[in-house]
Amino acid sequence: MERESWQSRIGFIFAAVGSAVGLANIWKFPYIVGKNGGAAFIAVYLICLLFIGFPVLVAEILIGRKTKSNPSRALASLGGGKAGLCIIATGFIVSSFYSVVAGWILGYFIEACLGNLTTLKAQGSAANLFHTLVASPLWAVGFHFLFMFFCVAILFRGVRKGIERATSYIMPLLFFILIGLVINGLMLPNADKALQFLFSPNWSQLTPMAIITALGHSFFTLSVGQGTMITYGSYLSDDDSIPGSCLPIALADTLISLLAAVAIFTVVFSVGAQPTEGPSLLFETLPHVFSHLPGGYFAALFFFFFVFLAALTSEISAMEPCIAYLVEERGFSRGKAVLTCGGGAFVLGIPSALSLLFLDRIDFFVTSVMIPLGGFVAVVVIGWRWGASSALRELLPEKGSPLFSFYFSLCFKYLSPLLIVLVFLHALGILSL
Ligand code: PHE
Repeated sequence: MERESWQSRIGFIFAAVGSAVGLANIWKFPYIVGKNGGAAFIAVYLICLLFIGFPVLVAEILIGRKTKSNPSRALASLGGGKAGLCIIATGFIVSSFYSVVAGWILGYFIEACLGNLTTLKAQGSAANLFHTLVASPLWAVGFHFLFMFFCVAILFRGVRKGIERATSYIMPLLFFILIGLVINGLMLPNADKALQFLFSPNWSQLTPMAIITALGHSFFTLSVGQGTMITYGSYLSDDDSIPGSCLPIALADTLISLLAAVAIFTVVFSVGAQPTEGPSLLFETLPHVFSHLPGGYFAALFFFFFVFLAALTSEISAMEPCIAYLVEERGFSRGKAVLTCGGGAFVLGIPSALSLLFLDRIDFFVTSVMIPLGGFVAVVVIGWRWGASSALRELLPEKGSPLFSFYFSLCFKYLSPLLIVLVFLHALGILSL
């Protein structure tokens, strides 16, 4: 059977941006920008993207396109041994617990439709609602299942008709909803305070810790280290420029994060609430704020729909490496591979749906250990195993400028692996600043 490929370069870009834009852009980036020096942090973040996020993204897409195969075979054929299997397992585990949290979002979207997110005026009532809902096994497992069902339905149809077509509708829709949320936010009282919190440059808040945070985030947000970008790259045609395709991905991811930051914190500041991050921002602070906001019903509805779309396009990308592996290495039909992977991720996600502690632990282990290792393997395979000069011939076939060659070989061989190790040691508490 002929291997599938993207129909167009823009289709690939939509799918990859869909993968990159996820919960981290929405519940993490806005907060870390505000807390770590606003525009000063954004400047540092862009530099971090340049030296860690972007080169690792390019490395993974290159590995995929060169080998035209799933991460297991791809890495094995470039001298990475069995590391690809571990990377596929990472994506699979991520998809299991990501679907649980995305299920909460779907559940909150339904709550928003029912008008239940605009009656939480009393202090603590939004937090109570959240804890009651997630403590209900039926609610948590049920929405985990429903969310997984949507993903399976898209993935079932294949790369072009499933992933590419779905993301080419979803991403523009997501962007338009986000613009609507930004405009709404900017018209609220105290919008200037939110913009000041987010963007006024404060160099004194830019601590070494903030720089490590920027490094780590620039890496995770681009969905590297878990086989996703290797697999998406494997469906890319040889004629498409990799740096030219990866640049818009990194820029769109950053732009959407910045817009989400404006959309969220203008709403939070409009009623004088405190900025927060993570699940408490989405499921506690925002519903409380929506309850005080004129037009809060629609703001809540559109907001949770926006987050749902972002999570959906990330989740399908986390599942695809495992599906490609089952099809190419184990001889499964696409349908059987999708059902096996979807069913397996659903079952593996159940402990996370039933226990917040379990969810926290597995999330920490995967994002602090397995994902950095996966990214590290990708750049080291490119820089040292395949060899930076062979990789560069493939990457810049028209003999790009010597500056580009220097930049990529510096990153692949030294800078990116070193920075990943730094992030890794810091996340494990071995390196403290
Ligand atoms: N890039 C996603 C985010 O920012 C992370 C992710 C990708 C998670 C793929 C799951 C699957 O949230």
